[in-house]
Amino acid sequence: MASVPDIRSCEKKLWDSSNLRKYCLNFEEVPRLFYDDPRVDEFICSHKPVVILGSNLVKPAIDRWSLEYIERNMGTDVNTVFFSRNHKFKYFDDKKIHSCNNPRGVEFSPPMRKEEMKIEDFMKRLREWKRGEERLYMQQSLTSAVGPNIVQDFIGFNWKWINSKQKAHNWGKLTSNLLYISMEGNVTPCHYDEQENFFAEVHGYKRCILFSPDQFQCMYPYPVHHPHDRQSMVDLEKPDHTKFPKFRDAKGLEAVIGPGDVLYIPIYWWHHVESLMRLGPTITINFWYKAGPTAIEYPLRDHQKVSIMRNIEKMLLEVLQDPKEVGPLLRNMVLGRFED
Ligand code: OGA
Ligand code: ZN
Repeated sequence: MASVPDIRSCEKKLWDSSNLRKYCLNFEEVPRLFYDDPRVDEFICSHKPVVILGSNLVKPAIDRWSLEYIERNMGTDVNTVFFSRNHKFKYFDDKKIHSCNNPRGVEFSPPMRKEEMKIEDFMKRLREWKRGEERLYMQQSLTSAVGPNIVQDFIGFNWKWINSKQKAHNWGKLTSNLLYISMEGNVTPCHYDEQENFFAEVHGYKRCILFSPDQFQCMYPYPVHHPHDRQSMVDLEKPDHTKFPKFRDAKGLEAVIGPGDVLYIPIYWWHHVESLMRLGPTITINFWYKAGPTAIEYPLRDHQKVSIMRNIEKMLLEVLQDPKEVGPLLRNMVLGRFED
């Protein structure tokens, strides 16, 4: 008997390599698995990224959230919009600007600016945007201030499925859902977050390049007190191999996600996100979860070691007071006394 082809395996590919930015690294593909494949839980359990297909997590948004619909239904509150002179939107923590602008330090100049905008003003700027103008990227938390239609859509997300994952993997609470509305070609440079993330594509295509937490030495994060804390100092587009020689050894994974795909970005995994070029704006909703309480088991996992390093840095800054003293003290402690 002729076997019936699985309709689910007929994925249409609406992009090609000309829509991707070029980097001098090669990446392995993140596996793409259907939501009911038992291997999904194995990936999540072992903190490995996976693209989850067919979960219907944000189906109401996929069915209805055009830019026009969002404009009509987002509500009257203002939204956070970032503006950048180039395609890179490198996040910074304004609360940390003061601490690095000490008399001996180099002044920090924010690489992008932030504006709180009414949704109609943002959409108008997006529609009327011309080459050479600042690029825009809306990154707004979904709150109860959204209009009733968006509330209804949100209620219609597949909470049954995502709650079952939260429970199965003993995650903490859902802390926020960020709504990202991006221009094509925008890039969020490489960083890690301290939460588990289900990253759900609603509209358009995004490429995510990921590096595991055990590649910490290849990624050269900024110091914890720096406004670019959790960001890599390496620019993926033109890595400075003299300053950051170990970046050559970095082994990355990549995934291109489209409407309906959910990328699991494990806690502390580095990720660089680009909206594909020339394919129009993208809409994404993320689901950030606190890590669950974990019984400490040895050997510790790489992400737990990153967390320890962060705490040591914070503690040293607290006692030394001057961020400039943290590095030299750590070096003195290690050099000549501890082997690799
Ligand atoms: C995230 C993230 C960036 C983007 O969800 O953690 O970094 O541009 N997103 O979508
Ligand atoms: Zn992130």
